[in-house]
Amino acid sequence: MMMLLVVLFGVWLNSASAAKLGVVQTEGGQVEGKSHRMGLFSTVDVFKGIPFADVPGKWEKPKPHPGWDGVMKATKYRDRCLQVTLLQTKTQGSEDCLYLNIFVPQGRRVSKNLPVMVYLFGGAFLLGASNDVAILGDSLYDGKEMADRGEVIIVTVNYRVGTMGFLSTGDSRMPGNYGLWDQHAAISWVRRNIEAFGGNPDNITIFGQSAGAASVSYQMLSPYSKGLFRRAITQCGVALSPWAHQRNPMALTKKIARKVGCWRSDEDEMITCLKMTDPVGLTMAGKIDVLLILGKGVVMDLLELAPVIDGDFIPDEPSKLFHNAAQFDYLAGVNSMDGHIFAGVDVPSINKKNATTVEQVRGLLSGLTKEKGNAAVSSAYGVYTAHWGSAPEQAVVKKTVADIETDFLFLIPTQIALQLHANNTSGAKTYSYLFNMDTRIPGFPRWVEAEHAEDLQYLFGKPFATPLVYFPRHRDLSGYMIAYWTNFARTGNPNTGESRVPVAWPPFTKHHQPYLTINNKISKSSIGFDLRSYYVNYWTQTYNSFPSIKREVKE
Ligand SMILES: *[C@@H]1O[C@H](CO)[C@@H](O)[C@H](O)[C@H]1NC(C)=O
Ligand SMILES: *[C@@H]1O[C@H](CO)[C@@H](O)[C@H](O)[C@H]1NC(C)=O
Ligand SMILES: *[C@@H]1O[C@H](CO)[C@@H](O)[C@H](O)[C@H]1NC(C)=O
Ligand SMILES: *[C@@H]1O[C@H](CO)[C@@H](O)[C@H](O)[C@H]1NC(C)=O
Repeated sequence: MMMLLVVLFGVWLNSASAAKLGVVQTEGGQVEGKSHRMGLFSTVDVFKGIPFADVPGKWEKPKPHPGWDGVMKATKYRDRCLQVTLLQTKTQGSEDCLYLNIFVPQGRRVSKNLPVMVYLFGGAFLLGASNDVAILGDSLYDGKEMADRGEVIIVTVNYRVGTMGFLSTGDSRMPGNYGLWDQHAAISWVRRNIEAFGGNPDNITIFGQSAGAASVSYQMLSPYSKGLFRRAITQCGVALSPWAHQRNPMALTKKIARKVGCWRSDEDEMITCLKMTDPVGLTMAGKIDVLLILGKGVVMDLLELAPVIDGDFIPDEPSKLFHNAAQFDYLAGVNSMDGHIFAGVDVPSINKKNATTVEQVRGLLSGLTKEKGNAAVSSAYGVYTAHWGSAPEQAVVKKTVADIETDFLFLIPTQIALQLHANNTSGAKTYSYLFNMDTRIPGFPRWVEAEHAEDLQYLFGKPFATPLVYFPRHRDLSGYMIAYWTNFARTGNPNTGESRVPVAWPPFTKHHQPYLTINNKISKSSIGFDLRSYYVNYWTQTYNSFPSIKREVKE
């Protein structure tokens, strides 16, 4: 009897285990991943390090991969693209870096026709990787929880960053945007190959955070993306963000040429020299000189290596390309204190006991608004201090500093992008959110809300993957975000799909601008309207009407 039970249990267990993909045929050859058990009837097949393009030539567009014989074991992440380390003392990564990773959820039968979500990492166009930030085991961008809970395929991709990804002469000699071309090649590979993994190539959503979000925005605006994917999500960044665009690429290229000993008065000779220079030296030359700004200028000015108008992938000013984005459903938002980390560098007193002074607030505004001059600084100061009263508390003053940076770097550009999208679409949907979960970073003052990048741990399901370092409220929030995001990928509507959501999120339209406030307590009262419209109107109308003053060219 016991024996029979054991046998029966064994048979049951066997039939209870979920399906596996096994070896998959791609255009380059066969790949084999690894199956990870999630629940009793669910697994996720993980493929790491599949090449989507060949090793790229220096400052060249990515080329097709030549392919391979036999079965490639896709069980290890490949190198990140060559970049400076976080402390910027050396480089890490490789030029052989154009790889992607795929996470496929499986139930009892092999999945078919699943929606696909392609993630573009952030890191200021300078750092980062598809498998970045490994804390407590897996990478922050590990796709297993999202794939399993949302029943979608997650793909995470590498792209070139820093000098190797974004140096440009502003003309046909070195047009720039190599990192954006890499992303385009990766999305195109997914479109051509994902069916073999159980994905629906007509149901691709691209999503990203910070520079990855600005990248998503650029992919939406490029004429090369027509019909390539269906939907897009930007978290804390758009192509209109002031840090996401290099307007004077030749000046930056000359500055980098000086650092690597390639300065020549003849530009062609300078470019020839750069092309012969060691990539490691070039990458180090692209690092951020933080010491430069202490006391003068603002962090934003240091983020120099970024996409450019190249007359090809990005043919015009981003704000003039929204007709290209009109075909995609679009979901976008920011964190309530996205600018806090930058504000803390520009005005260090906000995170200390020291008083934050009126002069510091003015100084920040004049640093951010250099192109408009003193009258604009005074008007912006008036707008941001209107609620202060005669003797504002320090917490109010400090929070104002964080609000100014959040508005300028993230929130206002995102609201403009949402409006341009909604105003241009006929049929495609637009959704807006504000993420304001209290910060989990210890040691910050009490007025600090959601810091830059704090949304990602919830979206990627960390409260489920590492439950011991989170509370139930974090799992609630994580469940809500995964539900809205993956529903949106499935249907273009965050409210309908495989997952139940706590409240219906109404679309943002030309005449109606609702937004969802995202935290662990989502209810009917989480729907608000006209997010910070007083400030949006100020920056888009009053501020814009100040004439620009001439800026000296930095070299
Ligand atoms: C996208 O996927 C969903 C769910 O599988 C499906 O209902 C929808 O028809 C798909 N869309 C397209 C364009 O195939
Ligand atoms: C649509 O987008 C274009 C840029 O491509 C922009 O100039 C225009 O204002 C937008 N249309 C509307 C109705 O907002
Ligand atoms: C902050 O306060 C401390 C002690 O009151 C003082 O020593 C320090 O110089 C102050 N820092 C700034 C930047 O004002
Ligand atoms: C979008 O359209 C609305 C309604 O016509 C208008 O008020 C708003 O200024 C437009 N936004 C942009 C950025 O063009």
